[in-house]
Amino acid sequence: MQMENREPLLDRGWRFCVAPMVDWTDEWCRHLHRLLTKRARLYTEMIATPALVHGDRQRILGFERGSGPVALQLGGSDPAELARCAKWGEEAGFDEVNLNCGCPSPRVQSGAFGVVLMLRPALVADCVKAMQDAVSVPVTVKHRIGVDRETSYGFVRDFVGTVHDAGVRVFIVHARAAWLAGLSPKENRDVPPLDRSVALRLKRDFPDSLFIVNGGIRSMEECEEELGRFDGVMVGREAYNNPWMLTEVDEKLYGDPPFGRTRGDVVREMADYLATVRVRAPLAVRTAANHMLGIAQGLPGARGWRRELTSHESWEKLPAEEIVRRAWRNVRES
Ligand SMILES: Cc1cc2nc3c(=O)[nH]c(=O)nc-3n(C[C@H](O)[C@H](O)[C@H](O)COP(=O)(O)O)c2cc1C
Repeated sequence: MQMENREPLLDRGWRFCVAPMVDWTDEWCRHLHRLLTKRARLYTEMIATPALVHGDRQRILGFERGSGPVALQLGGSDPAELARCAKWGEEAGFDEVNLNCGCPSPRVQSGAFGVVLMLRPALVADCVKAMQDAVSVPVTVKHRIGVDRETSYGFVRDFVGTVHDAGVRVFIVHARAAWLAGLSPKENRDVPPLDRSVALRLKRDFPDSLFIVNGGIRSMEECEEELGRFDGVMVGREAYNNPWMLTEVDEKLYGDPPFGRTRGDVVREMADYLATVRVRAPLAVRTAANHMLGIAQGLPGARGWRRELTSHESWEKLPAEEIVRRAWRNVRES
């Protein structure tokens, strides 16, 4: 699908996005985030195409269709496979399919996807063309500003240019180069330094496209500042670690009325949800509890909340909703 005009794109609302994060932005986490903001665009974890082709597709793609846009992020480099997966994603109700061209993990590199794709722009063009032929929702790309020694502006401009020629009009720029050797993926989220000026040059050079800036954004003030220069912001770790920040999104960035509920209200709603989806296995209980750790940030009793949520004994014995309800008794919200 070719998209020439920026206005319809802006209507689709990339102003505020929560980043794709493996093991973090699963369906339960997105449910919590959706309780906190109706407007933010929420991304899934990266889903590798073989998992969809050979795995339990319905379970992986199944999600509760609420209000607000949700995007499926795919990892892969086989155009036909990506096209099939994009189609399944559209059928499952996702509003966008994003191709991961930014992940530096060795596991991802050996499968020839993630950031190594930035070294093969023609292949990325084939991938996104195949995906666009298969779906009518936007196909977007998340990428870095460089890879290893390829850190010149020309490198990333040519990458974006090739993908743009293939029809993509929304680019999410993690404004940090990727290093394929010598750094763990975790380290590579903080090193080398961010350089948002590269993303800004891209925005100037591709004026018919949307550029969403990602990396190191920690506050709503910073989001507002970046929205003066970019078409959208994507926030990862801060949104996960301090989910209450999301309650400001609809009001501050979209002009909606203030968020009217307390943290306790949200915790109770989340507990009810966890009861309906029946989170029982200890590992699953731990995961669900982790998503909620940061919601008490700054409140008296937050330490007790965290202690109970992270207690191994609770994961073994109690369903997720019960742990959450009990742990919240530690917190005093005025
Ligand atoms: C636990 C974790 C998992 C991540 N998984 C993905 C992923 O699946 N796909 C992706 O494109 N980026 C992934 N990222 C990178 C984030 O999307 C984001 O680009 C990065 O964290 C920088 O943004 P931030 O500084 O706001 O966190 C991950 C980051 C974290 C912390």
